[in-house]
Amino acid sequence: MGRDLIKLVDVGKSFQGRRVLNRVNLEVGASEITVIRGRSGAGKTTLLKLIALLIKPDEGRVFIEGLDAWSLREGERTRLASNAMSYIPQSIDLIPSLSVRENIELPALIRGVPKSVRERALQDVIGLLGLSNILERRVGTLSGGEKQMVALARSLVSKPKLVVADEPFAYVDDAGVETLFGVVRDLRDRLGTSFIITTTELYLKSFSGDKEYFLVNGSLTRV
Ligand SMILES: Nc1ncnc2c1ncn2[C@@H]1O[C@H](COP(=O)(O)OP(=O)(O)OP(=O)(O)O)[C@@H](O)[C@H]1O
Ligand SMILES: [Mg+2]
Repeated sequence: MGRDLIKLVDVGKSFQGRRVLNRVNLEVGASEITVIRGRSGAGKTTLLKLIALLIKPDEGRVFIEGLDAWSLREGERTRLASNAMSYIPQSIDLIPSLSVRENIELPALIRGVPKSVRERALQDVIGLLGLSNILERRVGTLSGGEKQMVALARSLVSKPKLVVADEPFAYVDDAGVETLFGVVRDLRDRLGTSFIITTTELYLKSFSGDKEYFLVNGSLTRV
């Protein structure tokens, strides 16, 4: 299966007899930004959930780092996904009443990562994303773009090879997109992180990935 982080082979998915994804093929390598464009309802979230192993395909196979994910036992499959990637859902699940620092630290806290290791990882991502000025703010008081940045920071604490982000630029203006996408490119270059990003923006206006795809009528096409 080579060195692909992610490989989808002829993946199909239907809901209540209605086909949402049809024979989808996708390969994602290291240090690579993949952008998937499609209208609302095109199946972008469904595709990302298949990649993150949150839902099972009806047909086809999902390989993560060369392993056929759905042929593994549940525990192995969960570990495979959590070792390889960090998933940022479409509705960001930050906790408004906690500070930026607490939100970023929370997943590592839950996993039982020791305080010193947590603190170092936190300082690393804060430095990378330039978040030190809002660290003690409550997330409920942040702008949409700032929240996206915090969600990105939190996803990076575990140093994933791949970040899967569902419409991270949805509530950000053009200048904000430029800043956020600049950070994404910087992380690709400095850490070798790969990204899969969805957007309803159908034109390559404000940002473009290393690989660009359109999702139309359940079919994914490289452009
Ligand atoms: N669990 C589900 N049960 C039934 N239908 C579903 C389910 N999940 C998604 N769908 C349907 O599948 C289609 C694709 O949904 P999906 O959420 O993947 O679209 P999307 O491209 O992410 O849209 P948006 O840009 O609005 O987020 C939609 O018609 C949606 O209603
Ligand atoms: Mg969606």
